[in-house]
Amino acid sequence: MYIRVVKDPRAVSSTTTALLTDEGGKVLKQRETYNLVLPTGSTPVETYRELIRRYRAGEISLDLIARTRTWNLDEYLPDTDREVWRYHEQSYWLFMRRHLFGHVTFANGANHIPNPAAVDLEAECRGYDESIATQGGPDVVLVGIGTNGHVAFNEPPAQKDSPTRVVGLAQTTVSDNAKKFFGGDLDAVPKQALSMGFRTILSGRKLVLIATGYAKAVTVGASVLGPVTGWCPASFLQEHPDCTCIIDTEAASIVLEYAKARGHDPRSGRFDVRSEAGYEHSVQTTNGP
Ligand code: PGA
Repeated sequence: MYIRVVKDPRAVSSTTTALLTDEGGKVLKQRETYNLVLPTGSTPVETYRELIRRYRAGEISLDLIARTRTWNLDEYLPDTDREVWRYHEQSYWLFMRRHLFGHVTFANGANHIPNPAAVDLEAECRGYDESIATQGGPDVVLVGIGTNGHVAFNEPPAQKDSPTRVVGLAQTTVSDNAKKFFGGDLDAVPKQALSMGFRTILSGRKLVLIATGYAKAVTVGASVLGPVTGWCPASFLQEHPDCTCIIDTEAASIVLEYAKARGHDPRSGRFDVRSEAGYEHSVQTTNGP
């Protein structure tokens, strides 16, 4: 892993936006489309805002936008009223429209989100994975991390080879999301979701994990420095050959304390840490662009 520690959430968003657009430019020199997997949640909002700002400022090529295809990681699966869920203010379909797709003009049909209104959910999930695979697989998979270590709605204990499927939300996730998005109302949070599995996530050529704030520090520490285990699903990312974590100093605080205790000076810019699983991660500490 390459762990990039930057000053604050703003630096996370600008570093991430630069990475996403740079990678897109590289991919499109060799292929027709740039295939991007995108998350929802509070963390990526700033990154989407920065993408929109750069798009409006003419700093992102229109060719890149026209040739980008996106697949979201997940969507809630409510018990009832599934056919109108996408118009619920907390649906991920509407979230993406509010925070990105309503502001950046992608090609028609370029943006995919699992459909909870599908009559045959199994076929929907299978088709979702197939649609990514047949278009060449993900070039970049951008993910956030839950306080319980989940990636998408792959809750602990997670499996590395899971496909897109119907999943139950962990109680910690219901509680986190109730506080952040549903005014604290646990009953209002759907208890199931359609979630991309680790099989597709880990098939990405490049993975990018973003995290900000002290509330994520322990989880980030366990994910990058601990054993690789389904009990901390994000730890699977350690095994990927090209994974970059872009985190602010607060989310990095446990990693930095661990490094300091082993004689590294976080101000020195660059050093390596070894995880319990035996992986060497390269850490770069900067204030970001
Ligand atoms: P958050 O969620 O960005 O709102 O913290 C991340 C996640 O649950 O994956």
